[in-house]
Amino acid sequence: MDKPHAPSCERNREPILAVLREHFADRRRVLEIGSGTGQHAVYFGAALPWLQWQTSDRREHHAGIRAWLDEAALPNVLAPLALDVGADTWPDARYDAAFSANTLHIMSWTDIEALFAGLARVLDADDATLVVYGPFNQGGTYTSPGNADFDGWLKARGAHMGIRDAEAVDALAARHGLALAADLAMPAHNRCRVWRRG
Ligand SMILES: C[S@@+](CC[C@H](N)C(=O)[O-])C[C@H]1O[C@@H](n2cnc3c(N)ncnc32)[C@H](O)[C@@H]1O
Repeated sequence: MDKPHAPSCERNREPILAVLREHFADRRRVLEIGSGTGQHAVYFGAALPWLQWQTSDRREHHAGIRAWLDEAALPNVLAPLALDVGADTWPDARYDAAFSANTLHIMSWTDIEALFAGLARVLDADDATLVVYGPFNQGGTYTSPGNADFDGWLKARGAHMGIRDAEAVDALAARHGLALAADLAMPAHNRCRVWRRG
């Protein structure tokens, strides 16, 4: 099949990589949630060869992810798990880090709650690290007119979607033992938020 291609991945991969280089420097096993096209997995897997990078997503994305993985043939990037965070499909495996990009505004809040509950189970390290990239509201307000427009566009397509309040996600993370360790500005009014256990 032709590989799926998200132009946004090419725009955001370098700034995200800089964050992962620092915050995943001492990590070994990463679970990616919502791998999408698979572009991030091959880019980060190639640049961070000390990591074992486990891709995952809903099944409809697997053919595309596999196409990227097959071409890259990286020994440290693993074929996708069928993982819908709101379903009983979490793996038995354990990880010391997790990464997800552009998923929280797509998932329902119920699924985000399930995401953090699931991560609390599969992240086994005392210092487990979670990095999430995407748009967030701060102090209950949009951080740019573009994000306000994007939120309206999302909600018109599905009432369950929308840009999340950073403080609400932090509170949810805290309930699962993850404390905010960094909140980093990314291009186009996105953020990388990093939570760490302990
Ligand atoms: C906007 S795409 C982002 C894909 C990729 N991470 C990126 O940055 O290009 C949102 C992704 O979240 C995934 N997703 C949405 N709801 C999910 C759920 N309940 N469980 C797992 N993945 C989900 C979708 O399948 C999709 O791959």
